[in-house]
Amino acid sequence: MSTLHIIDHPLITHKLTIMREVETGSKDFRQLLNEISMLMGYEVTRDLPLEDVEIETPITKMIAKKVAGRKLAIVPILRAGLGMVDGLLALVPVAKVGHIGLYRDPETHLPVEYYSKLPADIDDRFVIVVDPMLATGGSASDAITMLKNKGCKLIRLMCLVGAPEGAEKVMADHPDVDIYIAAMDEKLNEHKYIVPGLGDAGDRIFGTK
Ligand code: PRP
Ligand code: URA
Repeated sequence: MSTLHIIDHPLITHKLTIMREVETGSKDFRQLLNEISMLMGYEVTRDLPLEDVEIETPITKMIAKKVAGRKLAIVPILRAGLGMVDGLLALVPVAKVGHIGLYRDPETHLPVEYYSKLPADIDDRFVIVVDPMLATGGSASDAITMLKNKGCKLIRLMCLVGAPEGAEKVMADHPDVDIYIAAMDEKLNEHKYIVPGLGDAGDRIFGTK
């Protein structure tokens, strides 16, 4: 069974509150999302396995530790997920980045795929799927299914704000995928937007609309 990790560190909660405010413009919104992504990345990668390596300090040789085994891939769901990539890359600069393009049909609210470009060795990597909004969960669930169809075995989902319905859907569809999220909000409205939420994340990041 997957685990839902609410990453409610005071700095994350504070920055998220500013992002939610309707007066916050795109420049600050992007900057805050970037900062929160880096802070959350610290938790998402907390249990990466380490291995012993022999190194030489200016004083002596020693057995020290480095991250072992699998390499990372960050996979943003376009568009809004792009806003979470740089924060994670600041922590893990050697990670590869794949892209999955999905938009929600305005009538059905179901995700529609329009793009996919993934690293060739994605099936060998520990994949962090990023998208600020987990509303119905359809986009995140479909993106994870696409990755599993490519052979990915170790996948985590990192979001900013979610609704209970979305988390329940991803956990039911993908019980092997842990979810990391900064806040779980109350509900979805009739347009399947998160309440209270922060509005349309893609539009707020890119200044569209
Ligand atoms: C938003 C958001 C998620 C999706 C969440 O994307 O970034 O991908 O909706 O909704 P769901 O959980 O109900 O699937 P949107 O479709 O608005 O596209 P955009 O990022 O290009 O604006
Ligand atoms: N997508 C968004 O950007 N915001 C929501 O609240 C729901 C879906």
